[in-house]
Amino acid sequence: MAAKKAKIAIIGAGMAGLTAANRLYTASRDLFDLTVFEAGHRIGGRIMTADFAGDRIEIGATWIHGIGESPVYALATEQNLLEESSCNWERMDGFPSDPLTVAEGGFTVDQDHIAGPIWSLFHSLMDDARTGHATSPDGDPGVGAYLRRRFQQYQATRVASADTGCRDNTWSLENLEEALFAMEECTQRTYSSADDISDLNLSAESEYRDFPGNHITIAKGYSRIVEHLASGLPPGTIHLGQRLRQVEWCSGDGALPDGSPPVRLQFSDETVVHADHVIVTVSLGVLKAENGKESEKGNGIGIYFDPALPDFKREAIGRLGWGVVNKLFMETETETETESRVAFPFLRMAFNQDREDNGSMRYASKIPWWVRKTESICPIYSGSRVLLAWFAGKEATHLESLDDEEIIRGVNATLDAFLPTCGAKYAHSHASCTGTETAVQKPGCRITSVKRSRWATDPLFLGSYSYVSTASSGDDLDLMAEPLPRGKNTVPRLQILFAGEATHRTHYSTTHGAYYSGIREADRLLQFYNVN
Ligand SMILES: Cc1cc2nc3c(=O)[nH]c(=O)nc-3n(C[C@H](O)[C@H](O)[C@H](O)COP(=O)(O)OP(=O)(O)OC[C@H]3O[C@@H](n4cnc5c(N)ncnc54)[C@H](O)[C@@H]3O)c2cc1C
Ligand SMILES: *[C@@H]1O[C@H](CO)[C@@H](O)[C@H](O)[C@H]1NC(C)=O
Ligand SMILES: *[C@@H]1O[C@H](CO)[C@@H](O)[C@H](O)[C@H]1NC(C)=O
Ligand SMILES: *[C@@H]1O[C@H](CO)[C@@H](O)[C@H](O)[C@H]1NC(C)=O
Repeated sequence: MAAKKAKIAIIGAGMAGLTAANRLYTASRDLFDLTVFEAGHRIGGRIMTADFAGDRIEIGATWIHGIGESPVYALATEQNLLEESSCNWERMDGFPSDPLTVAEGGFTVDQDHIAGPIWSLFHSLMDDARTGHATSPDGDPGVGAYLRRRFQQYQATRVASADTGCRDNTWSLENLEEALFAMEECTQRTYSSADDISDLNLSAESEYRDFPGNHITIAKGYSRIVEHLASGLPPGTIHLGQRLRQVEWCSGDGALPDGSPPVRLQFSDETVVHADHVIVTVSLGVLKAENGKESEKGNGIGIYFDPALPDFKREAIGRLGWGVVNKLFMETETETETESRVAFPFLRMAFNQDREDNGSMRYASKIPWWVRKTESICPIYSGSRVLLAWFAGKEATHLESLDDEEIIRGVNATLDAFLPTCGAKYAHSHASCTGTETAVQKPGCRITSVKRSRWATDPLFLGSYSYVSTASSGDDLDLMAEPLPRGKNTVPRLQILFAGEATHRTHYSTTHGAYYSGIREADRLLQFYNVN
């Protein structure tokens, strides 16, 4: 008698889902009846390459974070995706070693004596956190309190000899250092997605792993990675436009009716699919949406489980941090067509943190609050007309609600405050507040159109990526990864499996974390069926 093929349904055609599908298919060929259900009308999920103003940009995942051991780097190399491409792509030309750091009001901060030391301080503090050498003051579990305490110590003990270079006394050294430190904190908001870095669990930082080597982007586009994974599957495996809304499963004590597959999946178009195993790869945001709600019965924005997910799973979903990060792309042009274009600098912005002291801040009032935690504005490669800024937390969410005109006005006011002579001239040197100076350039910086990501409002994501909050621990990421039903003796086994970036203890929030999680869950099933 030919054994019936085990039915495996994978929910989500992002990095995790496609990696799992690819692994299961290549390892077993026809052993399984394999289907990927994707709610959206494209594959890739939080990987999404697009075009803007003639350049290739990334709306979601951007970097291969360390080429040293990255499986994504290996895939990109195999597929020859890193070499030159037919059009220009977002690449930042690496991170420049000499960014132009400007303080609100428009004076260039001395890199060697002021910006550099704060940068070094901040990075050594984060290195300590990463290597487990950071301790919380007063038992505060957050990254924020730790950084602030160390910053205060630094200011109390450093010799206040550095001259701000600001001749009209708009900035004291303390103020300027505060602005620079806050700017570094804002980079941590975008790295982590936490609205407030006080909510980042300090001891969990030491569990996060980085790969060695350069951080690079993918010339032919990040989407080519997922397209490659999908191309290895038999035609018809991926079903687009099918949103899962309800999962019925057997929690272990219920009897199975007539040996039918234990999992029943109901989609928003009323299609019903039975499966032996389902691998859920939707974002933590989607899992949080319905978490613990009783009444909605599959009519909510997330996925309804019947019976409800066990407490350990619901609690882990509830505790883990989940935030919003968005990217804003801006197309620029020079004031007049005859002007030759000069490269826009890699501009780092030190906002004045002293909101009350606005008397002497000429531009403060015009800059909207939602720009004030953005750390930089820079071209997507040297000489590009397209500028990029990253937003996190409340500011990122708010950005999604604005219309293009309002965004352009807000960024315009910001550029006017930081590059007061933008569109005409700006000083690229150690300028003073009153602006003398040497090497003068003309960047084209009038913004004509914008494009931004909207990860929070998109019902298929409801945010950007996960972090370990002060209410949670690395253990929660492991609990996220545990299949259901729990326990060795509960049958049928491995009904619901979980993959996705928020299920990886040491590489969460990344594409390679999602990749590893897909491999992990595919291997769990392959092992269960004794395939190697
Ligand atoms: C702005 C931004 C920048 C980033 N930058 C980087 C970076 O530089 N480097 C890096 O490594 N990572 C980066 N990331 C993170 C990276 O993109 C993600 O960690 C990774 O792509 C997640 O993959 P996944 O498969 O876990 O989830 P997803 O990509 O979210 O895939 C889940 C899929 O499930 C689908 N889905 C949702 N609900 C349902 C449903 N009910 N039924 C069926 N399907 C459903 C979704 O449409 C989606 O396609 C970034 C993310 C964002 C948002
Ligand atoms: C400046 O700050 C004061 C409070 O100190 C506030 O009342 C005033 O509205 C602020 N002005 C602007 C233009 O923001
Ligand atoms: C802002 O808008 C004004 C008026 O349109 C324009 O003159 C100026 O160049 C703009 N500044 C930037 C930085 O785009
Ligand atoms: C923070 O994370 C660490 C490491 O995972 C863990 O030991 C600690 O218990 C966490 N804090 C809380 C409140 O869970």
